[in-house]
Amino acid sequence: MTRPLPDDLLQIPHRRDLPFSKLTTLGVGGLCRWLFEPTTELEAQAFVRACAREGLPWRVLGGGSNLVVLGDIDALVLRLALPKTPHREGNRLTAPASHGHIALAEAAAATGLSGLEFASGIPGSLGGAIRMNAGAYGREWVEVLDRYRFLTPAGDMVEKAPEAGEFHYRWSFLTSGHVVLSATANLVEGDPAAIRARVAEYREKRGTSQPLSKRNAGCIFKNPPGQSAGRLIDQAHLKGLRIGDAEVSPEHGNFLVNHGHATAAEFAELMERVRTRVREVHGVDLEPEVEIWRE
Ligand code: EPU
Repeated sequence: MTRPLPDDLLQIPHRRDLPFSKLTTLGVGGLCRWLFEPTTELEAQAFVRACAREGLPWRVLGGGSNLVVLGDIDALVLRLALPKTPHREGNRLTAPASHGHIALAEAAAATGLSGLEFASGIPGSLGGAIRMNAGAYGREWVEVLDRYRFLTPAGDMVEKAPEAGEFHYRWSFLTSGHVVLSATANLVEGDPAAIRARVAEYREKRGTSQPLSKRNAGCIFKNPPGQSAGRLIDQAHLKGLRIGDAEVSPEHGNFLVNHGHATAAEFAELMERVRTRVREVHGVDLEPEVEIWRE
């Protein structure tokens, strides 16, 4: 961003030139030139309105757990820093979008509410999970989503219940320039011991099939309809393929891991090599599941 930013934007808490290696779980990428961290919904709204008014490009960052950054990012980056307190009313649990996703699943379990066990191993922020309609073990967010509040690209604040067509497998309309502010899950009373047992079972499954001890960005590609990207990559003998410190996990084919000093270019090349080989072997075009930021 070469031109000076307007004063109303600069009043919103922000930091400059932070490495994406510290803002993402994968740990690659260049510099985040501008990181805006509003502490209230109204500040977030002021950010979006100012960007819309000035025609400034911007993006939303959540927990950085589903993101591959391939270079420096000059666009303004918004990361909500709202107070992290969930609120229970009956069987409904509401939390701000910047709440940790796993922490929310744990809070639900701790208060005896069932329905978010599937979320207990999915890292990142609640906002990111809603935006991507995150899921695991046959469940996904839209099934428990009661209401959600968000900003439109123009900065209008909307609160509503989900409707048909708004959420699909690992996709929602929110991916195009909207900001999730908060979400309410509609859960059911459950036996705390049974909830804990389900959480432990999911964790155990993830721990044995996914490379959780290495830096990663979760599953890299979407599962093509009726197929498993991990299995397709595995069958194409790509597990263990390594470029520098970037490797196709030997544990799960759909995870790429950073052994320490991998670069964005290495990840870009590794993703391309995997896609090309899977196309050659299976005739299937894999689509990224992670979000990719290029500039
Ligand atoms: N498989 C292989 N080789 C591999 C990996 C998997 O043969 O290298 C086989 C497994 O044996 C299994 C099948 O493929 O028969 C499916 O594998 P898995 O159960 O690990 O699930 P997945 O389809 O690869 C999905 C989600 C994960 C989620 C798990 C558990 C996607 C792209 N992935 O993985 O979500 O944790 O189910 O529910 O939808 C993510 O979204 O980032 C993510 C990791």
